[in-house]
Amino acid sequence: MDMPIYKKLSYIYKSELTSFHMPGHKYGKIYEKLGYDKYMDKLYKLDTTEILGTDNLHNAQGVIRKSQDNTKRILLADMDPVDREALDLLYLVNGSTCGIEAAIMTACKSGSSIIMNRGCHQSAYNACILARVKPIFVKEEIDKENNILMGARPEDYLDAIRSNPQASAVFITRPSYYGMSQDIDQVVELAHEYQMLVIVDEAHGAHFGLSHLLPKSAVYSGADMVIQSVHKTLPSLTQSSILIYRKRALDTARLTSVLSMVETSSPSYVMLMSIEVCYDIYEKSGRVLMQNLMNNIYRFKRGLKDYKVFTTSDPSKIFVNTIEKGINGYDFAKVLRHRYNIQVELSNYSGVLFLATIANTKSDFDKTLVAMKDILDRKLFSVLADFKEDISEHARQERFQSIGSIYRSRPISLDLPVAIPERGMDLSQAFDADKEDIRIEESLGRISGEFVIPYPPGVAILAPGELVDQDLIDFLVRARDINIDINGMESHSLETIKVIK
Ligand SMILES: Cc1ncc(COP(=O)(O)O)c(C=O)c1O
Repeated sequence: MDMPIYKKLSYIYKSELTSFHMPGHKYGKIYEKLGYDKYMDKLYKLDTTEILGTDNLHNAQGVIRKSQDNTKRILLADMDPVDREALDLLYLVNGSTCGIEAAIMTACKSGSSIIMNRGCHQSAYNACILARVKPIFVKEEIDKENNILMGARPEDYLDAIRSNPQASAVFITRPSYYGMSQDIDQVVELAHEYQMLVIVDEAHGAHFGLSHLLPKSAVYSGADMVIQSVHKTLPSLTQSSILIYRKRALDTARLTSVLSMVETSSPSYVMLMSIEVCYDIYEKSGRVLMQNLMNNIYRFKRGLKDYKVFTTSDPSKIFVNTIEKGINGYDFAKVLRHRYNIQVELSNYSGVLFLATIANTKSDFDKTLVAMKDILDRKLFSVLADFKEDISEHARQERFQSIGSIYRSRPISLDLPVAIPERGMDLSQAFDADKEDIRIEESLGRISGEFVIPYPPGVAILAPGELVDQDLIDFLVRARDINIDINGMESHSLETIKVIK
């Protein structure tokens, strides 16, 4: 066995990559710094299962229950104890993905409908397919200059609630992947007047409680189910997440049984323990570390004065526009990685997103500032970074070429279709129906059998069950010409589209 995964991980480990990406523990640096490595050092020695003395995640009454309660107390320390008592907190080991699926399937019965923002995560669409729930979409706001998903406007949710009083729930993504948050107090209030449950995808907001400079969690707005990816913005292992819910608001037995449908029956205790370690750090040093992080970010942004930095609601998400410097974000990310050993969270055509957490050090920011200045000075083509990595000559050439490709960056102008297409069939029916591939130019009026998600900005412009219109055809033909990334479509060359037979 060649062990390609092991080899790749070993390379990354040896290269001591500077991480501005998930997971939030940044290759364990924070555990070493704070002395938690005795718990986290040899995880295989702690990897156990349901034996005498451990607990059952799906019906927690022992150590898991106790740990979840401790975390709730830490996370909601500033909440009135009576309000806190009305909430419960569950650990999740299949990411926020399973929390979102469970929340939607708990709130919505088969055939019912849910109001949700168009730019929601794929797991929310998937939950609708699994549970045969009808989505009613609220338009996503997009910052066109930076290709950033802004979330949907509160007033659009309010309109959608008034126009669809039959809906069972409202699904809100807050913050967006890029760190944009809106005030949702009124949305929650109106939804409750209409007897709708409110689910908030707070996958990117697990750290909100650590500083008054960050938005408040939707738990404080009265949302009924809030899902956070602990692993994204706090130090815990990948896939570890939590779900906070209002006990009285929903059918808790249904939530338990739905969770056991979408989550493994062999939960990783190592992952569960990493959540516990994370909230121990959160309680003991979280606020101080967050204040240090905010100071580092402030200095970093000041150092980036020659770049346009997008202002987000969450300062720890730093989006730097690079295309106005003539380098698209994809190429910029490659230069950062291959020449400077710095990995960003994501790149889109317009720029790059740094995801900073309390595990990032001052030297991570200093090193990145040097790199960012270097790139502007066009000192790009000196030697590649020494990654302490044994790479082949072929790989080395590939890296040079990808760095050289910045000369190919060019402006792309491609407007997304703005209207949400008309629906011809339910999402879940379309998922099941027989499909065929036809030429895009011949698809006018046909019902789509697949998603069309241009990247950037990563929002669906067509979903299964929706009708193909002329705007969409024009968009796809142009996207084909300029070679834009489209997720969801089987035809990568954008020749054909999958439609219902
Ligand atoms: C907005 C949003 N929601 C939910 C998820 C799913 O989270 P997880 O990776 O914890 O399953 C993601 C993942 O990137 C996301 O960006």
